[in-house]
Amino acid sequence: MGLIPDLVIEQVLSRTDILQTVGEYVTLKRTGNNYKGLCPFHGENSPSFFVHPSKGIFKCFGCGAGGNVVNFLMTIEGWNFPETVRHLADKFGIEIAEESDEEAEQSRRRREGKKLYLRIMTEARAFFEQTLEAEGGRAALHYLRERDIDAVTSQAFGLGYAPQGWQNLFEHLVALGHKGPVLERAGLVIANNKGGYYDRFRHRVVFPVVDIWGNTLAFGARALSSEEQAKYINSPETPFYKKGEQLYGLDQAKKGIQKAEFALLVEGNFDVISLHGQGLDMAIAPMGTALTDEQARLLARYTKRVVIAFDGDQAGQDATLRCMSVLERAQIETLVIQFDELDDPDSFIRRHGPKALHEKIADAVPLVAWALDRMLSPVEGASIERKLVALKEASELLADVHDTLSWEHYAQEISRRLAIEPRLLREYLKRPKANEEATRKAFVDAQRGAELENAEYGALVVLLDHPEWLEDFFRDELDKLLCSQELAEFLERAHNQYGQTQQLNGPMLLERIDNGPLRKTVERAMVESATLYAADKSLRWYQDCVRTLKKNWANRTLDHIMLELERVDFRAERARYEALNKQREQVNRFKTALDLEVKSAPS
Ligand code: UTP
Ligand code: MN
Repeated sequence: MGLIPDLVIEQVLSRTDILQTVGEYVTLKRTGNNYKGLCPFHGENSPSFFVHPSKGIFKCFGCGAGGNVVNFLMTIEGWNFPETVRHLADKFGIEIAEESDEEAEQSRRRREGKKLYLRIMTEARAFFEQTLEAEGGRAALHYLRERDIDAVTSQAFGLGYAPQGWQNLFEHLVALGHKGPVLERAGLVIANNKGGYYDRFRHRVVFPVVDIWGNTLAFGARALSSEEQAKYINSPETPFYKKGEQLYGLDQAKKGIQKAEFALLVEGNFDVISLHGQGLDMAIAPMGTALTDEQARLLARYTKRVVIAFDGDQAGQDATLRCMSVLERAQIETLVIQFDELDDPDSFIRRHGPKALHEKIADAVPLVAWALDRMLSPVEGASIERKLVALKEASELLADVHDTLSWEHYAQEISRRLAIEPRLLREYLKRPKANEEATRKAFVDAQRGAELENAEYGALVVLLDHPEWLEDFFRDELDKLLCSQELAEFLERAHNQYGQTQQLNGPMLLERIDNGPLRKTVERAMVESATLYAADKSLRWYQDCVRTLKKNWANRTLDHIMLELERVDFRAERARYEALNKQREQVNRFKTALDLEVKSAPS
């Protein structure tokens, strides 16, 4: 499209009725020469929003929004400047002369084509809507009521019914003067091999797909029962409808999104409708496709914050992950809420009500944190091999995090949770592909070579001498206090062996440790344990070691909590902030109790 000449902009501004345009969004009351109403850009109870029709401007004394009619539409609709001017020109009958004659002819033809297309779509939509209300639509209406979709919501989304039979819509549109080939190109009918046409959508609930201007561009159609082969049948793409450029429900949601300051991205059309019906009018859906860059850019005009609420199953979680780079590219901050395996937003809100969903939204976690947790928690404390797999996944995830601070934050999280030395992890993350094998080897060696803390070594020595204490050691989950995963695994083998044979077979145990630093350490500890004194002295020594292990653990945990606390925005993530503070108190109490223990111990 060419540039819009200044003259046209001038004409648009002078001929557009600002009162009428604003009046479509705001209820205005006359006061003297001006009009006032409740500002659509911020929540308020008494009107501070004014329109001055003679000057052609609006102003809100509450939030400061103001400008001419173009500014108003750009803000409230999220349109860009040319879009807005074209829209107004169209509406108020102003010719936009532009381009060369040839180009002008081309765009004229395209405009005509689009006009006809939109007319056909509108007529089809009206047909579906009427059919839903008519006798034949009873089953569909019943279906919607069963799913708790009320009439107001159903109408707001233009839900309809495509009747049983092969040519209902076709005949209806032909009677309105349209030709078969045109209807076929619009995706509403399909040609049969006898030169005739039949309806694409039959015996289904129909969902119009509407663009941000409110034009119906396409339809999705859901089967009434699960016996049908396809749950949804959708319009094909046409010259005027690209699936990846639209978001289902955006037109109905844009005000809700601006008010809530986020969009709730769900998987299904049905989720959107169900949520809107329950007052969550910021819900939208990508219509079964993986979120595209175009969709993300479109959304970014309305909000820079998205809460993803996909189905709770594996597919939903995978789809959530796939949104990450797309939303990151559109510079949209993304949070996630997770449902139980069998739930989706629709089933959740029907069972628990809107308040419960609002609460879930308030507790949403950042997408990267959510994804990391999903990768790391199953392998915490697992074998090196399993950790390596998770590490690879996690590093791919981090490749999408471009903000340096966040990157550092998540790198630390990985290092902590996989117990990998930070420097080594950083090296790995910066080049996970190149040189993968070498890094991997360095990583494994370093894991093995990790020096035991003094207290870890001490505990090892005593436990080798008193394997009967291993039972309590594992019952109290003291293995979780160890930094060395390899040591924990060794002690576990020792524990099992002792459980089966009531004794420790040193050579057997050594046999099963890889030939690395830990093996040397264990050899040394075995020699040392053979020289230990009486059981009571050993017990005191052991208790000291355990206390130190606990203390070290508490300090590590506190460091981590403090780090998290520094990064949490305590207004936006209130629940998380409070949870962290609570954890910090608990760990502090735990530390104090340890100190008291030492003081009260008999010397
Ligand atoms: P869902 O299967 O989650 O659909 O697919 P839904 O709308 O939530 O329906 P219910 O609640 O199970 O009745 C998510 C979206 O994927 C697209 C549709 O846009 C659907 O809303 N889809 C799904 C298709 O295009 N074709 C299909 O066969 C299935
Ligand atoms: Mn669904």
